Amino acid sequence: MIKVENLDVVFGAKKNRNHVVRDVSFDVAAGETLGIVGESGCGKSTVLRALAGIEAGWTGKIAFNGRAIGKVRTRDELLRAQMVFQDPYGSLHPRLRIGTALAEPIRSMGLGDGWDQAQRALIQVGLPASFANRFPHELSGGQRQRVAIARALILEPTILLLDEPTSALDVSVQAEILNLLADQKDERGLTFVLVSHDLSVIAHMCDRVLVMKGGVFVDALTKQDLEQGVTHADYSRQLFEASFI
Ligand SMILES: Nc1ncnc2c1ncn2[C@@H]1O[C@H](COP(=O)(O)OP(=O)(O)O)[C@@H](O)[C@H]1O
Ligand SMILES: [Mg+2]
Repeated sequence: MIKVENLDVVFGAKKNRNHVVRDVSFDVAAGETLGIVGESGCGKSTVLRALAGIEAGWTGKIAFNGRAIGKVRTRDELLRAQMVFQDPYGSLHPRLRIGTALAEPIRSMGLGDGWDQAQRALIQVGLPASFANRFPHELSGGQRQRVAIARALILEPTILLLDEPTSALDVSVQAEILNLLADQKDERGLTFVLVSHDLSVIAHMCDRVLVMKGGVFVDALTKQDLEQGVTHADYSRQLFEASFI
C-alpha cells in the first residue's frame, strides 16, 4: 500500500542545513500497522508529514498502492492518506463548531455542505450527533481526539498516519482511543503508520516496528520480536531497556 524509496528531507541551507531524514526506504502492506519509534527529534514526524503531503521539501520516491506520488499532489492523492496529530487541542479551530470543522473537508472538495456527513462521522467515532453544535473547549481531550479522528476519516482515506495520537491524553482515555482506531481500521480496511514513543502502545497496535535514530532506521522488529523482547541493534536494546515494558 505504501512504498518509500530513498526518502530524504533537508531543512535549511549552509550553516543551518539540517538533514533530518536520510535515505530512508520502507514498505507498508495493505491492512498492516507499521510503527515508528525513536527519541524526540529523530525525524519521525517529518517522515509522516512527507507521506501526508504536508511537507513538500522531500526527495526520493513515495508510492501509494503502486502509483508514484508527485511533489504536488492531486486531489485524490491528498485524500488517500490523512494524518492525526498528537494534540487534539491544536488540531481543531477554537472558534469553529465541531460540525463545521468536520464538514470543512467535504466543502473544500465541493461535495456539498457536509453537515449530514459530519453528524454521521460523530456517531461513527462514538460521540452524539448533537456534538456538531459544540465548540472544541466544550469537549474533553479524548472527545476532541475522537473528533480529530472523525475528521481524518470523513473523506474515506485508505491510509491513516498517526503521530503520537494518544500522547497528549490522560492514561485513562488512551486505551479507548486506541480501541477506536483499531475498530475503524478493521471496519474500513485501513493501513496505519503509527508514530509513538510509548512502546506499550506500539506493542499493542503494531504488526511491525521500525526503530529510528538520527534520520535513519537502525532496526526493524516484528510483533514476535516485540513480544519476546528481541532486538537486532544496540540502540533498540537501549531504547527498550529504558522503557517500562
Ligand atoms: N519545518 C521545519 N523546519 C526546520 N526544521 C524542522 C522542521 N520540522 C522539523 N524540523 C527539525 O527536524 C528534526 C526532526 O523533527 P521531527 O520530525 O519533528 O522529529 P520527531 O517527530 O522524531 O520528534 C528536528 O531537529 C526538528 O527541529
Ligand atoms: Mg514528532
